[in-house]
Formats: sequence, C-alpha cells, structure tokens
Amino acid sequence: MNILFAASELTPYAKTGGLGDVLAALPAALRGNGHSVSVVLPLYRQLHASLEGLQHTKLAVEVELGEQTLTARIWQAVSRDGVTVFAIERDEFFDRGNLYGANGEDYFDNAARFIFFSKAVVALAENLDPRPEILHANDWQAALIPLIVKSEQLPFKTVLTIHNLAYQGVFPARDFTLTNLPGFYLKPHALEYYGQMNLLKGGILFADAVTTVSPGYAKEILTEQHGCGLDGALMTRREALTGILNGIDAELWNPAKDKWIAAQYDARHLPAKEKNKDALLKFFKLSIGRQPLFGVISRLVEQKGIELILSVAPEILQQGAGLVVLGSGDAQYEAEFKKLAQQYPKQVAVSIGFDEQLAHRIEAGCDIFLMPSRFEPCGLNQFYSMRYGTIPVVHDIGGLGDSVRDGETGLKFRDFNTESFGKAVNTALKLFGDRKKWPVLQIRTMQQDFSWQRRVPEYEKIYQSLV
Ligand code: ADP
Ligand code: GLC
Repeated sequence: MNILFAASELTPYAKTGGLGDVLAALPAALRGNGHSVSVVLPLYRQLHASLEGLQHTKLAVEVELGEQTLTARIWQAVSRDGVTVFAIERDEFFDRGNLYGANGEDYFDNAARFIFFSKAVVALAENLDPRPEILHANDWQAALIPLIVKSEQLPFKTVLTIHNLAYQGVFPARDFTLTNLPGFYLKPHALEYYGQMNLLKGGILFADAVTTVSPGYAKEILTEQHGCGLDGALMTRREALTGILNGIDAELWNPAKDKWIAAQYDARHLPAKEKNKDALLKFFKLSIGRQPLFGVISRLVEQKGIELILSVAPEILQQGAGLVVLGSGDAQYEAEFKKLAQQYPKQVAVSIGFDEQLAHRIEAGCDIFLMPSRFEPCGLNQFYSMRYGTIPVVHDIGGLGDSVRDGETGLKFRDFNTESFGKAVNTALKLFGDRKKWPVLQIRTMQQDFSWQRRVPEYEKIYQSLV
C-alpha cells in the first residue's frame, strides 16, 4: 500500500511530545513491512538545521487560503529511519522559533498556518506519482484533510489518528473563510462547534477511519467525562473508531546500545545501570547515597498530574530519596519544582527545557519513573522507562492502564488523588528496598516487547478495510 502521513511533528527534527516519536517510528515500521510510506510536515525553521539532505524539489503546489492564492515549494529528504519526508515551504507561516507558539501563547495565526498546511498536503498528494492510496492525518493540525478529500471527492481514503483529544484546533467561525469550503460545512454535522470552528471535529466526522493511540483511551473518549466535548461526534463514528496502542522505537530506546548514556546495559547486566545513576547524580551534584532516585520527564501541563508529584514529593524526600525532573510548560509548575530544588539541594535537580539526550540519561539513571497523568491517550515514557528497567508508577488510565501491569511491570493507582498515588509510590519504595524482588521486577519489565512491529498488523488491517 502507498500511505502518506501528514503531521505537525517528526522526531528528532521537530518535536514537542510523543506525536513526533510516533511519526518517526510508525511509518518506518510500515515501510519495513513492504509498504510505500512517506511523511509530510511543514517546513519549519528547525528542519533546515537538523534534517540532513533536505532539498527543494521541482514540485510546487498552489493553495487557496481565503482570498489569497499561495504557492508552496515542496522540499524532500530521507529521515534517519529511511522514510521519505516532504516538507511544505511557506516561510511567513513556518520559519519561526517554535512549532505552535511562544511565551505560553499560541501563534495568533495557527488557523491559517494549519489550514494552509492541510490544503497543501492534499495538493501534494494529487501531484505525487504514484499517488498515495491512503492519507493518514494526525491530530487537529492535519484534521481538515479528510473533509477536503470528501468535499472535492478525491480518490484517497483517509485515516485520522487522535493523539490527544484535548487539543482540537478550535478557532473563531470567521476563520472558516480560510478553508474556502462551501458554507454548508460550517454546520453542526461538520466543523461547527458552539458557534466556533473545530478542525478535529471535522476530521472525526469525515475520515474513513478514526484511530486513537490506545484501546483504553478509545473507550474513554466516548464518555462525557473524557470526551472533551466531542464524545457526541465520536459516538456517531464509533463503528469506525479503533484504539491501537503505540509502540516504541526499540533501537533508539535501547539501553544496550544507547550512546548517550554513561554505561550500556541489558537485563543480564543490571549492575551497569548503577553507573548511570552515579553519573546522573554526579552531573546534577546530588548526593543521596544508595537511596532510590525518582525521575520525571514531561510537558509540565495539567494533563500530566504534576500537582500529584508536587504533593507527594516532600514525603519521599524526607525519607532521603532523590528526584530528577526534566520538563517545561506552565510557569507555575516550573517555579514550584525550582522551589523544591532549592529546599532540597542535595536531593532534587530540575532542568527546565527540552533535551533529548538528557531524557535518555534520566531513563537510564533513575530507579523509579513517575507518570501520574490525569488522562493519557497513550504515553511513551512509561514504555521507555520499562525498557530501561526504571519502574514506572502510573495512573491507571488510557494507554498507561493498557501498558503497565500492576505489580508485574510497574505500579498503578486508580483514583486520581494524592493518597492513592502516595500509596503506589510507597509500594514502589518498599519493593526497591527488597534486594531480591526489585531486580526480578526490573528484569521482567525490561523483557517486555513494545516494538512497533507488533502494532503494524493492526494498522494494516484498517488500511486494508478501506482500499
Ligand atoms: P506527550 O506526547 O503527551 O507529551 P508522551 O509520553 O507520549 O507524552 O511523549 C512525550 C515525549 O516527549 C517522550 O519522547 C519524552 O521523552 C519527550 N519529552 C517530553 N518532555 C521532554 C523534555 N523536556 N526534554 C526531552 N524530551 C521530552
Ligand atoms: C499525545 C498524547 C500521548 C501520546 C502521544 C503519541 O501527545 O498526549 O499520550 O503518547 O500523543 O501518540
């Protein structure tokens, strides 16, 4: 099959979270299974510096955006995973410091930027030879694609994957003119949403198939509690909705080969993991003796249950444990973590920012990973942690619930509150203190297979049902 993936992130070139990781690894795994797969994303400023071999092609597409007609040159490269990458050039939209916004604010013209992107993707698909059979759109930034394909009756099948229902691309109704679609589509059966325009809603209603990133989340989003206002729209498509658990790039996240960590190790050579802990403690000038080291790598936003971490932290720190945090996001969370580091300078290190290499060193160097997300479509860090023998403590929700087995490959808690989370953390601490049980737990978690190869058949089944 010939599949074109459209998304706003691609690791390592343009990434803010797990979306980029999925777009790097899933297309590569499908390609490994004999399909013809390419990925298209905006030509961000970041790409010029990071995507080797990136060149403009002879191809350009014309896009109507409201009253303007804009031309976009198409650039091309091959990703480090061997997948063809197309990038859509339009500097006034994408030659910027960040992907979506700056200083905690979205860019004012995100509607124009991503409506333009979605239209350019469709135009590109029409110009490719051979033509893709499937356009696989990801998240709201590409969610207009299915609707454009339907409205123009183009010969593509469309799949929409929802990586996070909390981000929907909701814009004032006046931005609808940017789509150049018939007014009929700004109605409740399509893009209209409480008087506004909702791009994700359009994708949900018009894609031939809708997927999300775990079976658990696929069920949850059909309920009012977790449906973020789109449970009604999703209910009408429930026959077309499938939850497929994400996989991981098991080569990139492999403690036996990871070049960024102090000492490589695997399940048979666990003591070498200790060297990574020592190196991490030394790097951050922490001193906790043989006490457990907790790790957090996260966007610091409400979704991630940061307040639970902050409220459980004092108790575990008073017992002598250490805590390393890597993340960025809400200023208030950043400030509270910094305060904690000042209060416990020998035990807590906080690194505000985005640092791919440090993320690997934290996974390798910590004993326990904290991920008490309020909700989690899939989550990837629990997989990375398990692969590195770093026991995850997770909220039993969405993809976290689907991927961690309580007491066997990590610890789970049910109720989203400090008490339940604290109990699970204490269980982890007890286990850590049991020199017999702990390595058994670590070895078992490290032996789990979370590779994308296992998920490929599930995507193939969906594509096959469409073509
Ligand atoms: P989400 O996509 O909701 O942020 P995931 O767990 O699916 O959550 O994916 C997060 C990805 O982003 C992981 O690859 C994680 O390592 C990475 N990540 C998050 N914050 C940082 C950071 N500050 N520095 C480096 N990597 C980060
Ligand atoms: C989103 C979700 C996360 C998921 C990732 C990749 O960012 O928040 O749970 O793992 O997308 O699908």
